Amino acid sequence: MSPSPQEVGRPYATALAELLGRAGAIRTQPWATAFASVPRHAFVPQWYEQETDNRGIAVWRRRSVSEAGLAAAYQDTTLVTGLDPATAEQVDASAWTGVATSSSTLPSLMAGMLEDLDVQDGHRVLEIGTGTGYNAALLSARLGEAAVHSMDIAQELVDLAQERLDSIGFQPQLRAGDGTLGWPEGGPFDRIIATCSVPSVPAAWVEQLRPGGVLLTDVTLGIEGGLVRLSRGAGGEARGYFTTTSGRFMAARSDARTYPVKERPERAPAARSRPTTLTAAQFHAHYPLRLLLAFQMPSTELVYYVDETEGTSIQLQRGDGSWARVPIGGNRELVTFGGDEGLWKQAEEVWSWWNYADRPAQDRFGYVREADGSTYVWYLPDGSRWDLTG
Ligand SMILES: C[S@@+](CC[C@H](N)C(=O)[O-])C[C@H]1O[C@@H](n2cnc3c(N)ncnc32)[C@H](O)[C@@H]1O
Repeated sequence: MSPSPQEVGRPYATALAELLGRAGAIRTQPWATAFASVPRHAFVPQWYEQETDNRGIAVWRRRSVSEAGLAAAYQDTTLVTGLDPATAEQVDASAWTGVATSSSTLPSLMAGMLEDLDVQDGHRVLEIGTGTGYNAALLSARLGEAAVHSMDIAQELVDLAQERLDSIGFQPQLRAGDGTLGWPEGGPFDRIIATCSVPSVPAAWVEQLRPGGVLLTDVTLGIEGGLVRLSRGAGGEARGYFTTTSGRFMAARSDARTYPVKERPERAPAARSRPTTLTAAQFHAHYPLRLLLAFQMPSTELVYYVDETEGTSIQLQRGDGSWARVPIGGNRELVTFGGDEGLWKQAEEVWSWWNYADRPAQDRFGYVREADGSTYVWYLPDGSRWDLTG
């Protein structure tokens, strides 16, 4: 009889669990045991690695356990497993361009989130974003398969995850569907964990959570996103904080296969440039600053703007065509605008406020979704609020 995936993977899974323990991502014994017992290679037999081809184009190169060896599936790395068929173009026998639609999350991020979720024996959990099924396997190892519900927008991912979970003897409840609507008949849940990001916490998740239950998700707006850990209160509100664990997830989509193409207005012509203290280096260096900018400027998006003469810049842009950008190289303390100059002024005000407040980290900020749907972020020390409703 050939050895089981658990037997084959055990030395690697044990080493991964030890690594995550040393890094502080795994903090309790039950999660150390779960990580050491689930063979990640059974969920990620192949994946795509980003590389730049000889024409300077970024491509996804297919890799597999059979060619790269078992250890490759047990690194603390995100392994991309799906590409959007609307954007994926094959460039050679084993490489594609395109937008990633599914992955096995970075194990240290997954471990940090599972610890933050604070599950207890007997808890029922809903996971949004089944993907490969690896996290559903970890939850099943920790809580028992009967306690675990997991859903993904893509039927083929759910089918594949089911097969792989079966292969290691787990049968949690799986279904295909839009996870932002939750799983009404499966609830109420003690814990909800989303491994895709949302622009705001869906009402369905709060409704399907038991009072006192906890939900953990990435809330991402146009500039940046953060992980929030919220508890459901007796009145149907969800209230909590940004966690010290930080990481980004793919956005939840409403189409099972592709991301919709974003409609962007024509950009206003360049108006003028002026000196600024908010540089591209500040954007890169300070995650809590980007988070604060995201929540104070919820309809603004951050993109990289590439120009043959100007080089690469960080650009903020808004739906009315206004934009402002700061170069990554060259004259770094210069901002160039088009349209409403107030866009950059607002960003500079957030930068001044953050410095004046002594550069608070993300866990100094709270996030609340009231029972009536109104949502705001607030600064714990003085209660300042930024309304996100609508
Ligand atoms: C980062 S992957 C999840 C990783 C997964 N937990 C694992 O262990 O492999 C994100 C997943 O979210 C799924 N997804 C995207 N939009 C969704 C939606 N609206 N509802 C449910 N799942 C969604 C994607 O198909 C993708 O598989």
